[in-house]
Amino acid sequence: MQLFSFSSLICILALFFLPNLIAQQPQDPESKAMDELMSEIQEEPLSAENMDQFTFIETLLSRMTLEEKIGQLTLYTADWGEKGPFLRDQYLGYLKQGKVGALFNAVTPDFIYQLQKIAVEETRLKIPLIFGFDVIHGFRTIFPIPLAEASSWNLDLIEQGARVAAQEASAVGIHWTFAPMVDIARDPRWGRIAEGSGEDTYLGSVIAQARVRGFQGTDLSAKDTIIACAKHYAAYGAAEAGRDYNIVDMSEQRLREVYLPPFHASVQAGVKTFMTSFNDINGVPSTASRWLLTDILRREWRFDGFIVTDYTSIQELIPHGVAANPAEAGKLAISAGVDMDMEAGIFQNELTKLVEKKIVSEAMIDDAVRRILAIKWQLGLFKNPYHYCDPEHAMSKLLTPEHRSVARKMAQESIVLLKNTDQILPLDKKIKTLAVIGPLAANQSELLGCWWGAGDTKDAIPILTGIQAAVSPETKILYAQGCAIQDANTQGFAEAVSIANQADAVVAVLGEAAWMSGEAASRASLDLPGVQEQLLQELHKTGKPIILVLLNGRPLTIAWAEANVAAILECWFLGTETGPAVASVLFGDYNPSAKLPITFPRTVGQIPIYYSYKSTGRPMDPSNKYTSKYFDIPNTPLYPFGYGLGFTTFQLSKPQLSQTKITDQENCTVQVTLTNTGKRAGTETVQLYIRDEVASITRPMKELRSFRKITLDPGSSAEITFTLTPKDFYFYNRDCQYVLEPGIFQIMVGCNSSDVMTERLEIVKK
Ligand code: BGC
Repeated sequence: MQLFSFSSLICILALFFLPNLIAQQPQDPESKAMDELMSEIQEEPLSAENMDQFTFIETLLSRMTLEEKIGQLTLYTADWGEKGPFLRDQYLGYLKQGKVGALFNAVTPDFIYQLQKIAVEETRLKIPLIFGFDVIHGFRTIFPIPLAEASSWNLDLIEQGARVAAQEASAVGIHWTFAPMVDIARDPRWGRIAEGSGEDTYLGSVIAQARVRGFQGTDLSAKDTIIACAKHYAAYGAAEAGRDYNIVDMSEQRLREVYLPPFHASVQAGVKTFMTSFNDINGVPSTASRWLLTDILRREWRFDGFIVTDYTSIQELIPHGVAANPAEAGKLAISAGVDMDMEAGIFQNELTKLVEKKIVSEAMIDDAVRRILAIKWQLGLFKNPYHYCDPEHAMSKLLTPEHRSVARKMAQESIVLLKNTDQILPLDKKIKTLAVIGPLAANQSELLGCWWGAGDTKDAIPILTGIQAAVSPETKILYAQGCAIQDANTQGFAEAVSIANQADAVVAVLGEAAWMSGEAASRASLDLPGVQEQLLQELHKTGKPIILVLLNGRPLTIAWAEANVAAILECWFLGTETGPAVASVLFGDYNPSAKLPITFPRTVGQIPIYYSYKSTGRPMDPSNKYTSKYFDIPNTPLYPFGYGLGFTTFQLSKPQLSQTKITDQENCTVQVTLTNTGKRAGTETVQLYIRDEVASITRPMKELRSFRKITLDPGSSAEITFTLTPKDFYFYNRDCQYVLEPGIFQIMVGCNSSDVMTERLEIVKK
């Protein structure tokens, strides 16, 4: 087998000997010959075809000026104008000078082609660009928001959704998505909770891996895979008071146990890039944290991709108060381990001077360049910079019927049935008169939720349209908006009440506007915005059965609705296929199976509230005032983590452990039988939690360790076997060592986090 081609061998030899040869003065004939050879090689355009990755990158690096190297570390955005995307003149100038390594937001295939052409034809070294974009829940076919997808607990489907997104994004020439967002979030005031997988570390970790697999596939150089980016590293979801960009102050133990694992899981799944977060942690902004970026990410976890900052994060080290000026900010970021500067321009403006003054070593910059060039190589861009560009056929690969059908399936599996009094749902398709009311009932513009990529709201199917298509020809559908999403105007109430009075049932479609969640969208109140709850109360007075359909990017405080309406469907934002998906649940074509990936508080005053809380020295006792509780509301949530109903009933047998005592090196299996005791086929998600009863530090009351989603016909049963390995019982102790402490563990199995059956397992030291 030939390891190196002849030309790469020459290059390696040349690279090796060059510094020594240069040092020799005066030149002897041999070194002169080598110089000539080198200059020949330098002039010869580099071809990736007959070189290996190492030789190619080292040779390229040896030809780069310091400015060109720093250019590779620079990421700028394209803007959107009346005629589509464009690049500011200033950035276009940098691009032509070879001072840009990657661009984002250049979403059309022609424009991407045009920009790549400039990079590979007009710059000195012809290094292709990476094109990035926020492909968060679909590209053109928009899937449910990530929090909604997490409600499906269906890892294969989530992976398939990311696959579809990658196929569409890569078809227009995009190579890199700024996703998945793997931030654990336990505060629904924080608008970006919509972009993640909720409150649980285990669920968040396995979903992170599914998304990485979906985006990246098994071959990065394939035309339809894109590189993923685990963001926002780290603990961005723990922003104090749920206010976006706010500070984070927490123990290292909690950081490692709750917030870091989904990032580590992403590395294990092979994620190629990481994005730093805006926040600081214990006084150090992530973008300046060598501990986070180098010690943990690169050294402990062996991450070998590149690290990009979030938007202008390096600049923000100044208002954070850890850098006095851009030069200091740049020095902090590069020394921490940042490879690519998103949009701040600080690397571009400051790094040359910092190297010249010997404050930053060129070797450090070389390393960052190597990591970025390696990804370009892996994408196949050096072999063919237009590999992903197919302007002619790109459009035909978007929003295909196949993609819409995956998106519809995902939307159906994301809908959580929170309440269903007297089995009011599913509705009969032959219902005589149905009133469909609310600001989101006929709405099309809000359905895609936050971050809708290259989606077009005009492709989204409204709920009213979905309902109209589902019912029998004899059914009369009446519609009234009732009120707006947010204002105080109640003039539409009368019409809404009047059509409700004429109907056999009312479907009220209420919730948030798309912009109310996502970035910079924190809320201090989690009530239905505007006068929507008032509208619901007026509709309730009619005495008609009310089915509340909610669209929102976060848990809302809906205690009144829970106490008063007949049925509640939590639909989050479901994307392009909203209407048909909601209608399929309303009329029973799809039996809902989703489970909450996040706790619903009764009121905002309970926040943060999550299922894996710890006991206290004074656990809640209703008969004792001096215990840990509120005197005005219960401690319990409105709906717990892992909760969700369906149209059938299931019964779970008592869990059976294979052994009640094992050593710290043995596995234990847990068996349960699930039976569909209802009248129709349905899907249930069986969840397994553990608790370490006594440890050297306090431990959560419950921690999810596994789950299975099972579909069963009526009357049939399935045996489920969970295997617990020693790793499932490890935790970070007071000194942040990852340990298993022998003792008694509770093993809990149930269909939501509040309702479980418990067995005990003893683990002894081997
Ligand atoms: C967001 C990131 C996003 C980036 C690029 C930032 O404001 O925090 O999540 O990837 O912009 O659009």
